[in-house]
Amino acid sequence: MGKRAALAKKLFIKTYGCQMNVYDSARMADVLAPLGYGPVDSPRGADMVILNTCHIREKAAEKVYSELGRLTPLQQDKAARGERMVIAVAGCVAQAEGEEILRRAPQVDLVFGPQTYHRLPELVARVLAAGPGEGILDTEFPVISKFDLLPEEAASQGPAVYLSVQEGCDKFCTFCVVPYTRGAEFSRPAAQVVAEAERRVAAGAREITLLGQNVNAYHGAGPDGADWSLGRLITRLAEIDGLERLRYTTSHPSDMDDELIRAHATVDKLMPYLHLPVQSGSDRVLASMNRRHRADDYRKVVDRLRAVRSDLALSSDFIVGFPGESDRDFADTLRLVTDVGFAQAYSFKYSPRPGTPAALMEQVPEGVKVERLAMLQFLLGEQQAAFNQATLGRVLPVLFERKGRRNGQLVGRSPYMQAVHATAPERLLGRIVDLRIDDRHPNSLAGTVVTEELVGVVPAAGPAKPARVSA
Ligand code: 5AD
Ligand code: SF4
Repeated sequence: MGKRAALAKKLFIKTYGCQMNVYDSARMADVLAPLGYGPVDSPRGADMVILNTCHIREKAAEKVYSELGRLTPLQQDKAARGERMVIAVAGCVAQAEGEEILRRAPQVDLVFGPQTYHRLPELVARVLAAGPGEGILDTEFPVISKFDLLPEEAASQGPAVYLSVQEGCDKFCTFCVVPYTRGAEFSRPAAQVVAEAERRVAAGAREITLLGQNVNAYHGAGPDGADWSLGRLITRLAEIDGLERLRYTTSHPSDMDDELIRAHATVDKLMPYLHLPVQSGSDRVLASMNRRHRADDYRKVVDRLRAVRSDLALSSDFIVGFPGESDRDFADTLRLVTDVGFAQAYSFKYSPRPGTPAALMEQVPEGVKVERLAMLQFLLGEQQAAFNQATLGRVLPVLFERKGRRNGQLVGRSPYMQAVHATAPERLLGRIVDLRIDDRHPNSLAGTVVTEELVGVVPAAGPAKPARVSA
């Protein structure tokens, strides 16, 4: 922090959307630090504001324009003092609608896509030289990966960190903008990932979540000349001393290969929680979505995973009201949810995205979407509550990641990604501590630190071999 405080120019980055954007925002701050920009918590008085945007659904994209409206008076205040607030729009809206942003929002100085932020120093220099009102656009997909050109990331962001290993997607689901905004699939070489993981662990990371839009399609060049799968990469990363936990997100059901499933059996550090989007339980809808698998393929993958890791907690993404979805299709989705049992999930109304095939298909009325979403969320909510309820009374290892809202409280995650808070001394931050789970709230659990004397007295409920907790 001390180093950052000395940085003279104020940088405010607002991040929308997925974990990949959170990661990218941190890297943008790293790239700009040598230019004297240090992060601040508010756009007021900032020298540069970056909106790192999300284009996945219409609502997410529209937020950008309202935020830009709110920034205008702040930019004018700064100009009245003879200073400049540079406003930049980054991320997927920038990639998809770059020119429209410059047209609709003249207060924007710079628009750059997710693949070009290693060029930020040069872009910022151009913006400063050009003066206000000269919008600059850079949304090229460069030939050389940005990962080869970025500086090393700044010091640890805490005990649980994200590490980007794969980007882009070649799947072209008919509803999704990602293949257009993030481009073709790209995997970082395994040795580069391992080296970065080692640095992060040396800086205090205990848990690493491997990130990618389609992370289990990972096929990075291995040091042995062969392409490494994600399963192989995870097995290698698990050898790093001091690294206690591994996770990965987000996956595609068709890319759950044997090596990755085996890793769930053999790698203790790989946590028993998996976000595996299914989108729909109807084969007709899945085909129209171009998902490349049927509902039963999903059930089979889940069975195979649970056969090797019986306590695996599953999370998923669902879209309701996809074009052509009938009541029967929707009933198939509810049936799949009931069959599988999810520990938690995200569900969305289908939102037509310009340029994607499904946007041109016959749409389902909004009222139907609203109704289906409510039904699905009710069912998923019940499953989540049941999953959490089943952990009450158990002792789970929790990695304390940060201080809680209340004094004397720490917050962390269970192996199943549940947020757990407990009264605990600050020295336990960054440590994995056994907590007895004794209460549940809508979005978190409450636990009590199990003292040394108690550990061993409760082996039946211990974390080594958790009972199957399926909702
Ligand atoms: N409409 C609604 N939801 C969408 N998602 C992606 N595109 C759309 C869209 N056009 C959802 C999917 C995906 C998650 C990240 O966002 O469920 O898995
Ligand atoms: Fe989008 Fe995921 Fe489908 Fe790729 S696999 S197109 S990122 S929903």
